Amino acid sequence: MYKYPNGIEHSSCPPNSYFSDDTRIAKSMGLCKCVSLIFFLHIFVPTPISSTSFLSPEVLAQIPVNFLDRANKPDLVDWMVGIRRTIHENPELGFEEFVTSKLIRTELDKMNIPYKYPVAVTGVVGFIGTGGPPFIALRADMDALAMQERVEWEHKSKVPGKMHACGHDAHVTMLLGAAKLLQENHHELQGTIVLVFQPAEEEGGGAKKMLEAGVLENVDVIFGLHVSADRPIGTVASRPGPLFAASGFFEAVISGKGGHAAIPQDTVDPVFAASNVIISLQHLVSREADPLDAQVVTVAKFQGGGAFNVIPDSVTIGGTFRAFSKESFVQLIQRIEEVITGQASVQRCNATIDFHPSGEPFVPVTINNKDLHKHFQNVAGELLGTQNIKEMQPEMGAEDFSFFAEAIPGYYFYLGMKTETQEKLESEHSPYFTVNEDVLPYGAALHASLAARYLVEYQPKSTLLKGSLHEEL
Ligand SMILES: *[C@@H]1O[C@H](CO)[C@@H](O)[C@H](O)[C@H]1NC(C)=O
Ligand SMILES: [Zn+2]
Ligand SMILES: [Zn+2]
Repeated sequence: MYKYPNGIEHSSCPPNSYFSDDTRIAKSMGLCKCVSLIFFLHIFVPTPISSTSFLSPEVLAQIPVNFLDRANKPDLVDWMVGIRRTIHENPELGFEEFVTSKLIRTELDKMNIPYKYPVAVTGVVGFIGTGGPPFIALRADMDALAMQERVEWEHKSKVPGKMHACGHDAHVTMLLGAAKLLQENHHELQGTIVLVFQPAEEEGGGAKKMLEAGVLENVDVIFGLHVSADRPIGTVASRPGPLFAASGFFEAVISGKGGHAAIPQDTVDPVFAASNVIISLQHLVSREADPLDAQVVTVAKFQGGGAFNVIPDSVTIGGTFRAFSKESFVQLIQRIEEVITGQASVQRCNATIDFHPSGEPFVPVTINNKDLHKHFQNVAGELLGTQNIKEMQPEMGAEDFSFFAEAIPGYYFYLGMKTETQEKLESEHSPYFTVNEDVLPYGAALHASLAARYLVEYQPKSTLLKGSLHEEL
């Protein structure tokens, strides 16, 4: 279905009238392909219906290359590095990204890009292009983590106990970089690119709130990316279909009757009951799940008691569970509840369970649309070389981009940033995490290319396409 519109692969020259002066000069020199040498000005020729039918693969392939060239120009690089460092110095947690959000709006103002604010507390949604369909969304998350930065450098976090240790400072920067690239060519865009700056990816479910605020209304497709510390710079990795697991948390209070540790017969011991609960929870994956259907149940929190000689009244346990299908996920919710209450009662205890202990929603499976995978391979292949497009295995981690990709066709990928000489970079969520700033032009160019190329290639069939993609989900 994501075929080129009819005739797109033949490279014969279109009639003169399609082009404005510069291009006509190029053509009169007998160099039809020269279209591609003029930045991609004139590639988005404003003619109705079959506007793209004459674009040759060579011309299309030039768009990502031109974007990367532009993104690597010193003025753009310096600007992006400055933004990234400013955000890095001022990390903010989910739904508190006020300074970050202000910085984004200031930069959009400077570029004359209109936006909506506030969306989902601190979110910003910018618009580049005609303001009409088709609408292509690009997403960046803005939030930092509640942890102390241990990297000693000039632009270390100025906020004690908060750090951009997941690279979201780079994500915001790369989307602003893409905004610059696209805005410089906005007259050529036949459609609208929607810039989604989202709060609270880490645990607040910011994407869900953005979705509920209607940011994807009328939007055809959405792209997102994450920097990757253990993949080489200049490479990307992703896969079609399920990419990240669905994720949920649970917290249970197991209550008994406290008393003297030397007189257990007068107590109902919740420590012992909770221990049995944890053992039984481990049987859910090992005995009840299909070994080929990856799932996780982890109890990561165990709190109770405070003395060597006192049996406490209650114990609190908590953890996370992951699965790759809705069915398996729902099954886990049901069985976790049954096992906790059932096993607690075997030890004469009562249990209450909360599946949203911090108020955050369950995060669905992140599923990459198969046709967008082809689009990604084409565009990223032209930008980085096909040998640098890696196919990865699904991961048990979760990403709230999944809320978007559940609502409309979406595509998410990793962007490598490890240099060749580096063994590895410290991984995401480490207090020693660093961003290789050389990654910024790659991210900006990829965002811009994925969106711009999508507009060029799929516009004539946009409405048709939308219907069929939705059916598939
Ligand atoms: C468990 O709940 C029942 C019903 O509310 C109550 O009678 C019982 O005392 C509780 N047991 C413990 C150990 O808290
Ligand atoms: Zn993270
Ligand atoms: Zn992240």
